Amino acid sequence: MTSKVPFVKNNNGTQIQSIGLGTFKSLGGDCERATLHAIDAGYRHLDCAYFYGNEAEVGAAVNKKIAEGVIKREEIFITTKLWCHFHEPERVEHACRKSLENFGLDYIDLYLIHFPYSYVYRGDNETIPLNEKGEVELTEVDYLDTWREMEKLVELGLTKSIGVSNFNSEQLARLLANCKIKPIHNQIECHPALNQRKLIAFCRQNDIVVCAFCPLGRPDPSKKKPDFLFDDKVQAIGDKYGKTRAQIVLRYLVEIGTVPLPKSSTPQRIEENFNIFDFQLDDEDHKVLESFNSPDGRVVRALQAVNNINYPFNIEF
Ligand SMILES: NC(=O)c1ccc[n+]([C@@H]2O[C@H](COP(=O)([O-])OP(=O)(O)OC[C@H]3O[C@@H](n4cnc5c(N)ncnc54)[C@H](OP(=O)(O)O)[C@@H]3O)[C@@H](O)[C@H]2O)c1
Repeated sequence: MTSKVPFVKNNNGTQIQSIGLGTFKSLGGDCERATLHAIDAGYRHLDCAYFYGNEAEVGAAVNKKIAEGVIKREEIFITTKLWCHFHEPERVEHACRKSLENFGLDYIDLYLIHFPYSYVYRGDNETIPLNEKGEVELTEVDYLDTWREMEKLVELGLTKSIGVSNFNSEQLARLLANCKIKPIHNQIECHPALNQRKLIAFCRQNDIVVCAFCPLGRPDPSKKKPDFLFDDKVQAIGDKYGKTRAQIVLRYLVEIGTVPLPKSSTPQRIEENFNIFDFQLDDEDHKVLESFNSPDGRVVRALQAVNNINYPFNIEF
């Protein structure tokens, strides 16, 4: 039995469950099955993206559970993201309508700009446009121009809220100084090896919720990586509370002020990841988890964009 899962308030009065189901690389029926299982297990927060190619599977599961009377539409919070090739202002509404069509829904709860940098557009399905040298072809659309169109989507009722992902503090500050509607979230990579203390503090000062992607550091059991997920000290913390190492890591992310988005397509892990709200870590546990923070901890480096003016990872936070 899972204990009650708390909700976090967003700056526009909406609220969100303090953990969400990640769906990247969940495809081919797995995503629909995972979403159905997650809803039955109590998840009411799903993280999706146009880029993941699985909005239709998530939508099918959500619509099935609505038809069965298990949930009402307003009880589930669905996030999806504007991909990099849709940043030109004239493509933003089209992109959002396309995602809605994929889901089979008439509104999204939260629409995020997936990355601050942009790609050339060569068709809706060409999400990674390559040049003749095989390199991703980037553009320099100003994310403020994209944001103005995101604001219109709220006015049109296509999404309840808007936000960003992978924005650094300077990009967020510039957005905050130039927006009509504030972003409610910044979704960023966060786990013990990249604990994002400074960016979390900056977001908190500005009343922006941080969602933590790659919360488990995309584990590779064959290499026993990342270290924090295969560590004896983390195991010992788990033994103390009767929890797994993954649960200890997710609980740590909640306690440092983020909403983690663990992805799983395995029913037992979907439940395990959700079951982290009946215990609390102490200061010593936090010290152990802090010790994994490292300047090399980032998993999603987006190196194809490293020379773009909107690349977010060239400054400290
Ligand atoms: N905004 C962005 O740019 C961005 C970037 C990356 C990710 N995301 C979002 O964040 C979500 C999470 O990130 P991620 O999928 O990259 O990485 P992750 O959640 O850190 O890791 C997912 C991997 O962990 C395994 N796993 C899940 N629960 C586990 C457990 N309890 N014990 C051991 N292994 C476990 C999963 O395996 P099984 O599925 O086989 O159980 C899967 O292989 C994504 O799915 C996506 O929604 C957003």
